[in-house]
Amino acid sequence: MQADVCPGKDLGRALCIITGASRGFGRTVSREISRLFKPGSALVLAARSRDDLRALQADLAAAGPGADGTGPAVQCVVADLAGKEGVESVIRASKEAASDDIDHLILVNNAASLGDVSRYATGFVDMAEVDAYLSLNVSSALCLTAGVLGAFPRRPGLRRTVVNVTSLCALRPFPSWVLYCTGKAAREMMFRVLAEEEPDLRVLNYSPGPLDTAMQAEARSSTADPSVKQSFSAMFSQGQLLSCEASCAKLLKLLLRDDFASGAHLDFYDL
Ligand SMILES: NC(=O)c1ccc[n+]([C@@H]2O[C@H](COP(=O)([O-])OP(=O)(O)OC[C@H]3O[C@@H](n4cnc5c(N)ncnc54)[C@H](OP(=O)(O)O)[C@@H]3O)[C@@H](O)[C@H]2O)c1
Repeated sequence: MQADVCPGKDLGRALCIITGASRGFGRTVSREISRLFKPGSALVLAARSRDDLRALQADLAAAGPGADGTGPAVQCVVADLAGKEGVESVIRASKEAASDDIDHLILVNNAASLGDVSRYATGFVDMAEVDAYLSLNVSSALCLTAGVLGAFPRRPGLRRTVVNVTSLCALRPFPSWVLYCTGKAAREMMFRVLAEEEPDLRVLNYSPGPLDTAMQAEARSSTADPSVKQSFSAMFSQGQLLSCEASCAKLLKLLLRDDFASGAHLDFYDL
């Protein structure tokens, strides 16, 4: 992967934290990014599914060392990011995993849920349901990012990069996707504010395009709005969904080149 993405470049001696690493895009990013680190790096993988995380950890070990001759130390954190304890456990594990001499902190806020897309906005009368959605998709991303940045404050020689995996839905309303669109819009604004506040940080809102994952399958089967449902079904049947690998390659190229405007929304199709 390294040679294909940006020959000769690497992401340094990194501590890299990836949420939603158990499957889909997060799993692919975990696998591919691990080849771009210098020796002494650490990878913290978070999700709820213990077995899937362990399987990924074994795959990473079996894949062998990266181009530099050594792979990162991999730590799995089984955590439900919808709650405070889950967020705190990822921050704790990150502090434990990092060696003192890391020169690059990378946090990939990837974990998300689609929410109930089988109803229109007028069907959401239960505040607890909406709060629970926002807790995972908005609050946890803010609190995890704040906690990690607090644990690894600005210091000379330390680059700090925060990725938010966003979506076209952060910018455009999709009927019957009120939770998802609202969450993605709020989450993206949060990272734009962060980019304004912390000029030393590199903040990237990366929109990966329509990916062939479990989330897409859920979108195809559960969406209430007929035209949205039809357009996702057509993308699937006409082979227009992207592989996680193709989208991940663009993300990694962006991170290696490191010339994006901090806080920008960059979409797979614009690159
Ligand atoms: N698929 C698309 O077409 C598409 C398009 C644009 C943007 N995106 C974005 O890309 C990212 C990845 O999506 P995907 O398609 O790979 O989704 P996915 O296949 O549904 O995977 C979601 C990941 O998030 C984790 N997760 C969900 N709820 C969690 C919780 N409560 N606590 C901790 N982890 C949790 C899941 O792990 P566990 O279940 O093990 O916890 C899983 O690893 C998301 O931010 C999504 O919004 C996707």
